[in-house]
Amino acid sequence: MRIEIPREFERFGPIMFYDVQKVYELDSGLIYKKNETKPEEQSVIKRISYESLQEIQEQMAIIVPVRNEKIKLIEGVLSGIPHHCQIIIVSNSSREEVDRFKIEKNALEHVGAFMKKNLLIVHQKDPALGKALASAGYDYILDEDGIVKNGKCEGMILSTFLAHLCGKKYIGFIDSDNYFPGAVHEYVQEYSAGLYNSKSDYSMVRIAWHSKPKIVESNLFFAKRGRASEHTNKFLNQLVSHYTGYGTEILKTGNAGEHAMSMELAKNLDFSSGYSIEPYHFISMFERFAAIHDNPLPEILKQGIEVYQIESRNPHLHEVKGDEHVKDMSKAALEVIYRSPLAPESLKKEILEDLFFRNIIESKEEMKKEVVYYPAIVNCDLKKLQKELQNQPYGDQLTLDLSKYKPSKKEGLKRDQLKGKPVPEEKNYLEAK
Ligand code: GDP
Ligand code: CO
Repeated sequence: MRIEIPREFERFGPIMFYDVQKVYELDSGLIYKKNETKPEEQSVIKRISYESLQEIQEQMAIIVPVRNEKIKLIEGVLSGIPHHCQIIIVSNSSREEVDRFKIEKNALEHVGAFMKKNLLIVHQKDPALGKALASAGYDYILDEDGIVKNGKCEGMILSTFLAHLCGKKYIGFIDSDNYFPGAVHEYVQEYSAGLYNSKSDYSMVRIAWHSKPKIVESNLFFAKRGRASEHTNKFLNQLVSHYTGYGTEILKTGNAGEHAMSMELAKNLDFSSGYSIEPYHFISMFERFAAIHDNPLPEILKQGIEVYQIESRNPHLHEVKGDEHVKDMSKAALEVIYRSPLAPESLKKEILEDLFFRNIIESKEEMKKEVVYYPAIVNCDLKKLQKELQNQPYGDQLTLDLSKYKPSKKEGLKRDQLKGKPVPEEKNYLEAK
């Protein structure tokens, strides 16, 4: 891959945001001799060889969340994932009347055999998973019967545990309703490029779509950004500006569903439910690690967190879900910004006005609480989890070496600890730095 070096960056405590990077060549070939960057290329554009991307992919799990998608569609998605990634499919497809999951699993395992790959396929509501999570001390996502709840977020949390137990260093997410296998392939290559470039153990890559095709007056129109993103990004940037004291437009991927992280970062971030999960990555990062109220983990202070945003070349086309869906998404995204203990009153007021004028909420004074928060997975007992899942059909894939592992007692900064603390004035925050 040949990719531009980020032109701008913005620092927020130990967090570094890089501006959107453009890809010049999706494939720039194999390693040149031993030294892969020719001297004249070192300046603004970087060449990353095929081997370097593969090296990252050998250590990466790709999570594919599924809920009642067409099997042909999922099959296309799987065909786009580079061979060396471990694929983990977390399905919440229905099992009543027709056991869709059974059909799905059979069909995909069949495809997996042709790919010569061992896919890890689980059902979100498998009682064994619920039981294992409970014994590991992570019962937050379970219902009264001890079964994992519905929802993409809950599925993503579950899959983060599984990817970790597979011993993977990186985790990436790819929706199963993507119509273009070529786009899927590209996203994973870009995840790998970003993670390869990162110098920190705490890194994240988010895809900024180049375009989303739509039919407008019977012609194909390539829209630049999703309808919700504009609003999410605006308020995320305002939140950053409040603390840094400088206006910024650096964040352009607030709603990016396509993203990847180092496991070190993934296990330290909290989650929020529904369509807020993606923007909440940023909020959780700010709340825990921007060093506003308390000091973050010493290792994070030392290494910093790096966030890359890469612009993809393929158009993004997935199942169409309509206007109401966009409204729900926008509300959820803005709700997590609004409810963050870090949001100043002025920003909260603007968010309410924005939602009110777009007819998404009924009152300019308040919004109904819909989002649920879940803590980071870092503090649960991985050893117990691994032991509980050993006898499952995929048990032999859970090879993380835990011989020296001790469950951590040391909690990171918890959301609840933030509540009730005053929002710092931007000036005080900067002086404290
Ligand atoms: P959007 O693309 O963000 O508008 O949302 P989608 O409804 O397309 O969902 C994104 C992905 O998550 C798709 O691949 C869905 O099949 C999958 N998905 C949706 N709900 C669930 C769920 O409850 N559990 C799991 N595991 N996946 C889900
Ligand atoms: Co979708």
